[in-house]
Amino acid sequence: MLTGKNIILGICGGIAAYKTPHLVRLLKKAGANVQVVATASALQFVSELSLATVSRAPVLRDMFDADRAAEGELTRHISLGEWADAFVISPVTANTLAKLSAGLCDDMLSVCFITLRPDKPVLLVPAMDGHMYNSPSVQRNLKVLAAQGCHIMEPESGELASGQCGLGRMPEPESIFEALTALIEPSFSLEGRTIIVTAGPTREKLDDVRFLSNYSSGKMGFAIAAEAARRGADVKLVSGPVSLSTPPGVERFDVESAAEMLDAASRHFDRCDVFIGAAAVADYRPETAVSGKIKKNDKEMEVRLVRNPDILSTFAAGRKAGQLAVGFALETKGGIGYAKEKLERKNLDLVAFNVYDRVTSGFEVDTNALTLIDRTGKVTELPVLPKQEAAGQLLDAVEQLLEQQ
Ligand code: PMT
Repeated sequence: MLTGKNIILGICGGIAAYKTPHLVRLLKKAGANVQVVATASALQFVSELSLATVSRAPVLRDMFDADRAAEGELTRHISLGEWADAFVISPVTANTLAKLSAGLCDDMLSVCFITLRPDKPVLLVPAMDGHMYNSPSVQRNLKVLAAQGCHIMEPESGELASGQCGLGRMPEPESIFEALTALIEPSFSLEGRTIIVTAGPTREKLDDVRFLSNYSSGKMGFAIAAEAARRGADVKLVSGPVSLSTPPGVERFDVESAAEMLDAASRHFDRCDVFIGAAAVADYRPETAVSGKIKKNDKEMEVRLVRNPDILSTFAAGRKAGQLAVGFALETKGGIGYAKEKLERKNLDLVAFNVYDRVTSGFEVDTNALTLIDRTGKVTELPVLPKQEAAGQLLDAVEQLLEQQ
């Protein structure tokens, strides 16, 4: 995907720097040339040797290097600015954000930033403690850099190096790779199309502190949303509670319950071309959500569950403007018969069958093995792929169906 593209990967001193060799590997595997530029603090967290090995190039860190000077290479930052097709800084720290927004150039990374050709995309991936991230100075600096045209990838929520939980984690290298690819290689195959994607789990309240839910992480749905946006679609992502950052160019609506998911998606359905249900929507909810906290006693407890609306069926049955309806079918063991039955019963155009095996496919993991079945009966069995690639294959099938309309 990135064959021959030249990418500068800036790395700053944060614990998330330990993940960057994996990002380099993803970029190299996609055919890119990668020049790593690290701050001195970054190399406290990740080894120069690892980065040089995976990028197959020396890591740039010092501004003044006698060896480079002897080779006539002291102005490398200028030639790199010309060479690069994109610049990603991941993780970018509060300190470097302050320098970049103020135009300071006191290390190799900040110098490379300022010499980059202005028409080349910059992706900044902040990762730090949540309080630091939300501090007025970091937020102000991010705004300044965004106004300069830098793309900012929001951090994710989760466990932080401090041991606390919250916003600030660097997104996984696969998500950064995806966001960068979208900036470098935009495609226009879905331009003019509006696509609604549902993702993640729903939470069905039992009382004010408890709920029924499932293990969906949202990765599959977010990968579809990201790829659809990269292909130029106007994407509305309706997400249950997950800890993923919003892909670039995607409009996101956060919901909790199935009823809220239906409500949020309904507001856009009339104007959409495709509805893709990747969310793991709870089929049932407690009949009553008790206000406050249910008190325990010595007796057993019975909870009566009632059916939730089937979001996908609601849309597939009620489509007026010829929208495509795409569903997923999740099983815990093989048998595409269930998926075929869902395609028929829910009146779908395409169904993606996947099995939850806890290792390579289904909930939480980064890969999935989809079998796509379309309304003509065509069955395409895909191998285990990163969810980003599986999303691409699913959207290829959607594009074919759109062409047939
Ligand atoms: O989020 P990840 O961790 O990446 O995991 C991805 C995934 C396993 C959640 C995803 O690949 C997937 O299979 N999503 C659908 C899971 C599911 O609920 O399958 P189902 O067979 O129960 O539902 C069939 C279809 O109906 C789905 O498109 C679902 O979104 C939809 N549905 C189900 C129930 C309901 N009340 N409303 C719905 O719209």
